[in-house]
Amino acid sequence: MAPTVDGNTLEGVSATTLWTLRNRAEEAKRPHPIIDDPLAVELYETIDYDYDKFGRPSQTHALRALAADAAAREHLARHPGAAVVNLGEGLQTSFWRVQDPTVRWVSVDLEPVMAVRRRLLPREERIIECPTSALDRSWFDRVPDEQPVLIIAEGLFMYFEPDDVWNLLTDLAARFPGGSLFFDSIPSWFSKKTLSGLNLSDRYRTPPMPFSLNLAGAAAIPQRIPRIVSTQDVAMPKGRGAWGNPVLRPLAYAPVLKNLRPSVTFARFAE
Ligand SMILES: C[S@@+](CC[C@H](N)C(=O)[O-])C[C@H]1O[C@@H](n2cnc3c(N)ncnc32)[C@H](O)[C@@H]1O
Repeated sequence: MAPTVDGNTLEGVSATTLWTLRNRAEEAKRPHPIIDDPLAVELYETIDYDYDKFGRPSQTHALRALAADAAAREHLARHPGAAVVNLGEGLQTSFWRVQDPTVRWVSVDLEPVMAVRRRLLPREERIIECPTSALDRSWFDRVPDEQPVLIIAEGLFMYFEPDDVWNLLTDLAARFPGGSLFFDSIPSWFSKKTLSGLNLSDRYRTPPMPFSLNLAGAAAIPQRIPRIVSTQDVAMPKGRGAWGNPVLRPLAYAPVLKNLRPSVTFARFAE
C-alpha cells in the first residue's frame, strides 16, 4: 500500500507512538511472528515516516502489547461488557486484537494522535473516543462504569512528571472502585539517561522520561495509596531469542537485577 498520511504531523511524545507501532508491525511482518496484527502492519505501511531513525526494531513493544491484551481478555472474561480504558493509546490496535464482542473501549490520547486514528482506523460503535490529556480528568465521566473498569497505560507514565503520575493513580483508584490498572515503568537509571539525552540514532533523541519506578517501588504503592490494595509484577510473555531463553528469563527475578529492569505492574483498586 502506498503511504498516504504524513507521520510528521505527530511531534514530541506523540511521535513515540510511531516507534512502538513500528516495532509491533515489524514483528507482525516476520515469518513466525510473536504477534498477529495485520491492522498494525497496514497502519505502518500507510503512514509515511522515517521509521529507521528509531534504530533497530525490537520485540519489546509487541511483548508488552501481548501482556496488555492478556490482561484485557482476563478482565472481560470475568466482567463481560466491562469497559477497558486505554490511556495514551497512540496507534495501538488492541481493540481489534482482543476482539471481544461485549467490550466498551475508551481510547484516550491527544488530538493529533486521535486525528490519525480517525483517519486510518475502522469506525467502531463500541469505541468511545476521548481526544484529551490523560491528566485531564474530564475523560473519567465518559467511562461506562457499571462494571469494574480495566485501565491500560502502555508506554505513557514515564513521560509524565512524578507528581502527576502519583496524583493520577490516587484519583483513578478513588473514581473506579473495584477496577484495575495495567502500566509499565522504566527504572531510574534509564530515566536519568533520557533526561541527559538518549539517542536511538543520529536522527532521533527520545523525549525525557522523568517518571521511574522499580519492582520495590511498585510493591510499595499500596502503602502510598491505600485505595490501591495490591500490586503484582506482570511477567512478559515468551519472545524469540533472549526473550524466550529459559536460562536468561529467571535473571529478571535475580535479587540485584530485578530492580534494575523495566517492569509491568497490575494494580487492583479497593471496592
Ligand atoms: C510511547 S507512545 C505509546 C502508545 C501506545 N500506548 C503503544 O503502546 O503503542 C506514548 C503515547 O502517549 C501519548 N500521550 C503523551 N502525553 C499524553 C497525555 N498527556 N495524555 C494522553 N496521551 C498522551 C502520546 O500521544 C503517544 O500516543
